[in-house]
Amino acid sequence: MRLTRLRLRQFRSYAQLTLVPPAGITVFVGENGAGKTNLLEAIHLCCLGRSHRTSNDRDMIRLGSGTCAVHAQVARAQTMDEVGVRLFSAQGERKLIYVNGKTVQRIGELMGHLTCVMFSPEDLELVKGAPLTRRNFLDMLLSQGQAAYFYAIQTYQAILRHRNALLKEIARGRGDAAQLDVWDEQLAKAAAPIVNHRREAAFAIGELASAHYDHIAGRSQEHFTLHYQGHLADSLNPAEDLLAQLTVSRADDLRRLSTSQGPHRDDLRLSLQGQEMRGFASQGQARTAALAMRLAQIDILTKAHEETPLLLLDDVLSELDEGRRARLLARLDRMQTLLTCTELGSVGPIQPNAVLRVSAGTVSE
Ligand SMILES: Nc1ncnc2c1ncn2[C@@H]1O[C@H](COP(=O)(O)OP(=O)(O)O)[C@@H](O)[C@H]1O
Ligand SMILES: [Mg+2]
Repeated sequence: MRLTRLRLRQFRSYAQLTLVPPAGITVFVGENGAGKTNLLEAIHLCCLGRSHRTSNDRDMIRLGSGTCAVHAQVARAQTMDEVGVRLFSAQGERKLIYVNGKTVQRIGELMGHLTCVMFSPEDLELVKGAPLTRRNFLDMLLSQGQAAYFYAIQTYQAILRHRNALLKEIARGRGDAAQLDVWDEQLAKAAAPIVNHRREAAFAIGELASAHYDHIAGRSQEHFTLHYQGHLADSLNPAEDLLAQLTVSRADDLRRLSTSQGPHRDDLRLSLQGQEMRGFASQGQARTAALAMRLAQIDILTKAHEETPLLLLDDVLSELDEGRRARLLARLDRMQTLLTCTELGSVGPIQPNAVLRVSAGTVSE
């Protein structure tokens, strides 16, 4: 698929901007703080209805403005779509999502029109960071592949919030303990599709990422593996098993006022030669593993949509040695790519289709 036009209004450092990116590679070059990442973030917002770097939508609204909007026009093999998102700074105003000129009720309806894979310096957190980072990686990947998964996550999280609220009520002597049975059952039922999808996805990502790791590292004596890890990782009947686990952990949960079992505690275990990477991997190994996971994400999204996603490379090429950079770029061939850098020289021997200069809220040729 191809992003053919991007329009921003009151988005971060941009009062107003229209971009018409060509097919192939577009390079955005500019100093730190110039507004390069803001552009990629705007595209991410159109893909998933949220930022890749903040969970607070209001951060993206230009200071001093009450609202911002981003619109993207996407050309696909058969169709042309226009998607957009509008955010409001006022408390309680919901974000608006547009698909082909109409507002849609659910964010899930946005997913799949424009799909992207973002490579960013924060990807090191995929390896070094907390389990939440890896769960988000899985959830974003699966949500972009199928909106049904996104709805399943939303449902699960809503039930989890209810259960946790009830635990607190009971602790204050107000809630009805019998109600917990109802929430336990619902939580267990909602967990099943999530666990099944995550397990299947983790297996596929593991196979693909392992091959990409070998390729980028340029040697194969370091064996990279990725496994799904969680209370239900090996469960053949997640709903039934979670219900049993919740019953066992109930007294504990009532003491802690939170739910200790379930897919909200899932993780991915990344290993080199069987050793968990989180604690011991070098920067270079962690960076390579993160790239391998992103490349696997491209493979999976390409298969799900039968079209390549848009690639967003934020400041990542300058961090790589020449060999890794060349092998990475070889894998990205023929996909529409938007990449940022502070110096053109740092991106190596690529031949961009457009080079755009970014500074203080403007983009110019
Ligand atoms: N909500 C906002 N309103 C106005 N300016 C913003 C907002 N958020 C960030 N900025 C500005 O955007 C710039 C950072 O942009 P960014 O895209 O992260 O830079 P870089 O080119 O280094 O990637 C900073 O100058 C910051 O002040
Ligand atoms: Mg940046």
